[in-house]
Amino acid sequence: MKVTLKVYRFNPEADIEPHYDTFKVEAEPNERILDCLNKIRWQQDSTLSFRMSCAHGICGSDGLTINSQSALACQKLVEDYDYTKEILIEPLKYFDVLKDLIVDLTPFFERVKSVNPKTPSSPANVEPEKERLQSIEERSRFDDALKCILCGCCYGACPVMVEQDQEFIGPAAILREQRYIFDSRTADAQERLQVMQKPHGVWACKSYYMCTVVCPKNIKVTEAILRTKKKIIKEQQPKVE
Ligand code: SF4
Ligand code: FES
Repeated sequence: MKVTLKVYRFNPEADIEPHYDTFKVEAEPNERILDCLNKIRWQQDSTLSFRMSCAHGICGSDGLTINSQSALACQKLVEDYDYTKEILIEPLKYFDVLKDLIVDLTPFFERVKSVNPKTPSSPANVEPEKERLQSIEERSRFDDALKCILCGCCYGACPVMVEQDQEFIGPAAILREQRYIFDSRTADAQERLQVMQKPHGVWACKSYYMCTVVCPKNIKVTEAILRTKKKIIKEQQPKVE
């Protein structure tokens, strides 16, 4: 059968404005959107630019906006969409477009790095006297966060980032910090909680839950953010002796 893809195009060396090109590709319902894009590139227009690597939901490089929602092109099938109509393929929202479907992820990685300071008391800088043992229950507190593949889909889906606060550090950055704050081996959780409270930090999140909806690793991102907020509030309560 023929599937129609309407694809965002922008070549900064030739175009003043972005435009859309429509392609018809031969595809089965159980083929992936990434397969369709590859068919376009291999058979119709070799200039179409997009990122991909593993093609199996591991590397996080092919985050796109498909029919207005962030997703990995390798994880979405043609049959996940109404393929009797055009399927709209656009770059991830929030980020600047470098070419066609490729965005500049620098702001994403800057934010992820910014919330993970190597403070003097961070585990990386403190030599333990004995092995830091951890129970299964303690480990389970941040297990979910370890699944993040840094794809940026949550940034493209977050209404705060896209429409309200361009400086918001964003879901993946908070998730990463939450991983350390709730790790029983972490010695600098208090310093990390301070970092989270900076302007455009955790309190900028308005719990739209879109990060959770689109996360390709099914991470409960909003829940992790809410847990971090609760921890901040709890730490601010006077201790009852
Ligand atoms: Fe991607 Fe999910 Fe990590 Fe966000 S939290 S970067 S959507 S894997
Ligand atoms: Fe690696 Fe899709 S290409 S996650």
